[in-house]
Amino acid sequence: MRKLVHRPRRLRRSPALRNLVRETQLSAHDFILPLFVSEKLDQRRAVASMPGVFQLPVKEIVDEARDAQDLGLQAVLLFGIPEQKDEQASGAYAENGIVQNAVRAIKSKCPDLVTITDVCLCEYMSHGHCGVTRIDGDHFHVLNDETVELLVKTALSHAGAGADLVAPSDMMDGRIGAIREALDAGGFDQTGIMSYAAKFASSFYEPFREAAESPPQFGDRRSYQMDFANADEALREVALDVDEGADILMVKPALPYLDVLWRVHERFGKPTAVYHVSGEYAMIKAAAEKGLLKERAAVLEIMTALKRAGADIIVTYWARELAKWLRE
Ligand code: PBG
Repeated sequence: MRKLVHRPRRLRRSPALRNLVRETQLSAHDFILPLFVSEKLDQRRAVASMPGVFQLPVKEIVDEARDAQDLGLQAVLLFGIPEQKDEQASGAYAENGIVQNAVRAIKSKCPDLVTITDVCLCEYMSHGHCGVTRIDGDHFHVLNDETVELLVKTALSHAGAGADLVAPSDMMDGRIGAIREALDAGGFDQTGIMSYAAKFASSFYEPFREAAESPPQFGDRRSYQMDFANADEALREVALDVDEGADILMVKPALPYLDVLWRVHERFGKPTAVYHVSGEYAMIKAAAEKGLLKERAAVLEIMTALKRAGADIIVTYWARELAKWLRE
């Protein structure tokens, strides 16, 4: 037998050796916990499509936020479920809207917790689309510029309530620039924008739409969210958001888009986030419930892969568990 000079396995012989050469380390600071706050509830309600995820009334959201912080998490992302929906999404930018109230409540008790708000209209629109729609015969259009105006009002009202970052998830053109300008003009130059810069029209959002009560009542979102076949286009979309002033760039969903995540991180060198979405969560939960795989090991592998592929920040429904696991 020839003597081998190179034996990469030398460094895999023990846990300590493996730790010594480990390239990617997870920390509780990497994660953002999404929370659903509902105006319709006075006690928590389990989301059937997402085991372990709850809709919460405002009075419980503060405890949830404090628990998250105690576990070592630093950031939450709020989604609101309004009492009433209409065709102008007025709940999205109401002074006492559900998200605005939740932000004020969280910030009064946990001022250091980074509080991020989802800026989108789908939860507040009676038809469930992310913008103002016009129906022409069999077709419907989401009107870009009219929608951007409402998104700007929404972002301003979130900033006014004390949000640290606003996170537009609608995929209208020009919304980042319009929001940036309005925030600056309104005295919120310290409020950042985490842009869902490359958001694909995906099957993996299905369970979320139960959680956020936001399924479109007709049609789908393919006229505004991206075609999952396109990665060069994703880079062009992200470039626009960079130009318009996005502080953090997000790719969504996560695992099927590692190539996009990698390219965004390499190309722009900006803080890069990825959203590990509801369908990705539900798949692993279902497989684990059937005993087909071990949840904790699978989740740690996925999160490490996302970070290895360029994610500085990961939005995940497992944020709480991850913070606990990483402490053990
Ligand atoms: C709102 C929004 C969606 C998600 C985040 N923000 C749903 C959608 O675009 O249909 C999905 C998140 C998830 O699936 O976990 N536009």
